[in-house]
Amino acid sequence: MQTIVVDSKEQGAEKICELVRKELDAGHLHVLGLATGSTMEPVYEKMTESDLDFTNVTAFNLDEYIGIPATHKNSYAYYMNELLFSKKPFKETHIENGMAEDLDAECVRYETLLKENPLDIQFLGIGENGHIAFNEPGTSPESVTHVVELTESTIAVNSQYFTEDETMPVTALTMGISSIMQAKKLIVAAFGEKKRPALEKLFAGVVSTEWPVTYLLDHPDVIVITDLKL
Ligand code: F6R
Repeated sequence: MQTIVVDSKEQGAEKICELVRKELDAGHLHVLGLATGSTMEPVYEKMTESDLDFTNVTAFNLDEYIGIPATHKNSYAYYMNELLFSKKPFKETHIENGMAEDLDAECVRYETLLKENPLDIQFLGIGENGHIAFNEPGTSPESVTHVVELTESTIAVNSQYFTEDETMPVTALTMGISSIMQAKKLIVAAFGEKKRPALEKLFAGVVSTEWPVTYLLDHPDVIVITDLKL
């Protein structure tokens, strides 16, 4: 695992763009796994300002809420369109359909697509409780794309984005730990004090189901970008 310490999330975002550019220039980036959340906002800002060309890149997102449509401002499909896809064309973009009638079938469809399009790079943020994507504490390392019940901790953190008259979904579809670990390279971003406990667990070097981020210790190519000095 390589760690790059930066002074700010903006600098972190620049670093991520540099890493992406290197892989694109080398002809190694055909499939890019994307994340959502506040951590990724400066990254997508820098990507859209850059001359990076994704017209030959297929994108897959990590996760999506169940029960809100892509037109809902809090859906991850909406977030991706607003922040990236409407400004930077990609060859194809994929995200789980949280409105699917048969959610189990939707998980199988998505995991099959991932198998057919192996991820070259996967971006990851980290939840305050150590989740990666929506793989909450206790998730099996064998997990593939699945339906998840969000924990109290994740609901408390993410409910800030929903107004009082909106009900925040408490279930989601997420790539599993195993789906994520198949990616050739993982770029993990963690900015701000709230991420310190989770990063401390990662840097302690012990794999634990209670802190899903520690599963990354078993991946051969992980780059952590953080503004935390640990
Ligand atoms: C989002 C995702 C989540 C977030 C994590 C951190 O697609 O998979 O795991 O990366 O919850 O969220 P922020 O960046 O908002 O702190």
